[in-house]
Amino acid sequence: MASRAKAILYIFLHMISLLSISQAEHHPSLLTLFGRCNFDKIFQFGDSISDTGNFLVENPLDRSGRLPYGVSNSNTPTGRYCDGLLMIDYVASAAGLPLLNPYEDTNADFTYGINFAVVGATALSVETLARKNIFGARTNSTLDVQLSWMSRYLSSYCKSEADCREKLKNSLFFMGEIGGNEFNYAFFGGMSIEEAKNLVPEVVQTIMNATREIIKLGARNIVIPGNFPIGCLPSYLTTFRANSSFDLNHCLRDYNQLSVYYNLQLRVAIVKLQLENPSVAIVYGDLYFAFQRLFSPTIHPACCGTGGDYNFGFTMFCGNAGVPVCSNPDRYVNWDGLHLTQQAYKYIAEWLILNISPMLHCPAS
Ligand SMILES: *[C@@H]1O[C@H](CO)[C@@H](O)[C@H](O)[C@H]1NC(C)=O
Ligand SMILES: *[C@@H]1O[C@H](CO)[C@@H](O)[C@H](O)[C@H]1NC(C)=O
Ligand SMILES: *[C@@H]1O[C@H](CO)[C@@H](O)[C@H](O)[C@H]1NC(C)=O
Repeated sequence: MASRAKAILYIFLHMISLLSISQAEHHPSLLTLFGRCNFDKIFQFGDSISDTGNFLVENPLDRSGRLPYGVSNSNTPTGRYCDGLLMIDYVASAAGLPLLNPYEDTNADFTYGINFAVVGATALSVETLARKNIFGARTNSTLDVQLSWMSRYLSSYCKSEADCREKLKNSLFFMGEIGGNEFNYAFFGGMSIEEAKNLVPEVVQTIMNATREIIKLGARNIVIPGNFPIGCLPSYLTTFRANSSFDLNHCLRDYNQLSVYYNLQLRVAIVKLQLENPSVAIVYGDLYFAFQRLFSPTIHPACCGTGGDYNFGFTMFCGNAGVPVCSNPDRYVNWDGLHLTQQAYKYIAEWLILNISPMLHCPAS
């Protein structure tokens, strides 16, 4: 009881001070930047950071289909784990394309690309995770399954390997963010940081293998985002604050160091893969840095609940009865403990687009 009261006080104190993310610069020239590139399709592989409705098809009663999810997007829940739009939505808009439809929506139009991302998805297969004693995955639609969806789509979309390559040459691919859930499941299942660190090489290699596969299919522009500083997520801060010291941003130092380590391995692997494939642009998406830019002060409350908080037996999940929702999500970085707000995603997407655009092989207009 005492620790529960302490945790409530902790959350309350942090709720008082709002993050000031309105200071991030705005870049009105995005449309021209990406527009000049003339990408005709976008394909997204990933998890809840990018899912625009697949998981909701798999689980029609999921919380992402109910308010307050979607509250900032005309009060319309869509399956996005957010109060509104996600990074990929801003990327698609900046490319002058409509928002990507989820693959599992059988009635959807895929003229401008497909979103294969699924909430809870991992890079490693569920069987591989089980062998490592990691359980509790929210979906079986892991990266290999998402790749099989891509192949199935291509089998009707193009006639031969050469035809597919021709048809995909002006497409933009997002391979992730994926691979973050491995660590969520591991940590919330009680794994230590040292144990979780051992997962890194296989997660990175799995993502590289998936990237090789889409290159073989014809991808010529691929963005591979890394992980966020997980030690700054309210869900981690409330559950694991006893397991780590704080860094200067008042985030959990050891958990952030795991993200740094993982991102570094990912970048090294990307450089190698880039050298093997000089005609393809393989670009790292630095979500860690983009996220950190949003912090000036040292406070990280979520707008809605605290997310997977084991101290509360999950009762603090956004959307559960009695869990408070802030009235001004635009002033928060974090939405529900694990996922960011629309406003945060917008700023991060804008930074990401500016950062990656010079490295992409722009299709000529
Ligand atoms: C994943 O597949 C296994 C085996 O078919 C099944 O038992 C499990 O319920 C599935 N998990 C989810 C989240 O759908
Ligand atoms: C984290 O700290 C809690 C106590 O607050 C402890 O019960 C738990 O075992 C620790 N977990 C890890 C992975 O070190
Ligand atoms: C990646 O692909 C290589 C070559 O096919 C294979 O040997 C390796 O086991 C794969 N790695 C993972 C983690 O799947």
